[in-house]
Amino acid sequence: MITETRNIQQSSMMLFHTDGKCLKPHLRTLRLLGFTLLLTYFCRGQSQLIGSPIIATLGNDIILPCQLEPVEDATDLTLEWTRSDLDPRFVHVWRSGKELVSKKHKSFEGRTSLFLDELMFGNISLKLSKVKLADRGTYRCFIPALDKQSFVQLDVGAVSSPVISLAGTDKGGVVLQCESKGWYPEPEVLWLDGEGNLLSAGPPETVRGPDDLYTVSSRVTVEKRHSNSFTCRVQQKNINQTRETAILILDDFFEVQSSSSSTITGLAVSLSVFVILFILLLLFSVWKWRQKKTNTKISHRDENDEEENRTNDPEETEAFTGEKEQQRREEAERENQTLKEELETKKKEVCL
Ligand SMILES: *[C@@H]1O[C@H](CO)[C@@H](O)[C@H](O)[C@H]1NC(C)=O
Ligand SMILES: *[C@@H]1O[C@H](CO)[C@@H](O)[C@H](O)[C@H]1NC(C)=O
Repeated sequence: MITETRNIQQSSMMLFHTDGKCLKPHLRTLRLLGFTLLLTYFCRGQSQLIGSPIIATLGNDIILPCQLEPVEDATDLTLEWTRSDLDPRFVHVWRSGKELVSKKHKSFEGRTSLFLDELMFGNISLKLSKVKLADRGTYRCFIPALDKQSFVQLDVGAVSSPVISLAGTDKGGVVLQCESKGWYPEPEVLWLDGEGNLLSAGPPETVRGPDDLYTVSSRVTVEKRHSNSFTCRVQQKNINQTRETAILILDDFFEVQSSSSSTITGLAVSLSVFVILFILLLLFSVWKWRQKKTNTKISHRDENDEEENRTNDPEETEAFTGEKEQQRREEAERENQTLKEELETKKKEVCL
């Protein structure tokens, strides 16, 4: 697409001779009427009308075409690529067989080059690398010695593909969200159904990032009757760019969705029931364990009373009690573990 534009541009961007037919017949009139500026502007305007603007994609390289007609070796000439809205205005200056970098505007440092093999054929096209948004503008290709110039308008566009996600449900319909990050200029967002019909969506949301790029997003609620394929199209007519992404929604999904609200409530209820049940069981087991512990202590005391005469070794008793307690603790822990596992399974079921 861009290549096409460039080809048109290149074949039509011939150098405009300021001493040529355009200006000369008017020169006397011009001096007489003092309309120099006006006519110069008019002639420049004419030369600009020859080609449509060149569109570069952000971050890519682009060639700004400029061809000397009739063909003449430009190697030993002074060549100037400038942009009048900049200060300094020099984008690339070629003098005495090499680039003159001293006057070059900072933002073009290391990003411009001429095609050295092409200079002898009068091709003084400029290669601009890693195009930035700030590179938008009108560039002048000028050869002072021949008093020839031409203009190229550069537009910069940035594009990205949209991403569709499911944003939720709405009364049996499905809410789709489309987002596309990193556009320039600001694009428009459209939703289409499987037959290519426009779907009515809410107003798109546009956010401009610190990098000057736009992020657009749009939501649409779709129903089964719309068909099951939906396309989000993001387009920018000025840079002739379109990106689109489609999503296929199965019929089953709509059926699941249409009963979803009751299902979700059901799920929530059963989930809370399980949680309450778990807490109750936990409290119960703790209570039971404590009771057992007290009982053990009491029974031990009894045993001790009885056995006081038989064994007078407190350490043995201690060890015995400890062992039993340990066993009980382990039992309780096992119980808890089983409960936890049960709950996990229930949770998973619920989630499914
Ligand atoms: C825009 O792009 C389409 C397809 O890529 C192409 O056919 C069309 O000529 C382009 N239009 C312009 C104005 O560049
Ligand atoms: C000038 O040179 C560039 C780089 O090789 C090329 O892309 C372009 O087509 C040339 N222009 C003409 C008018 O031949």
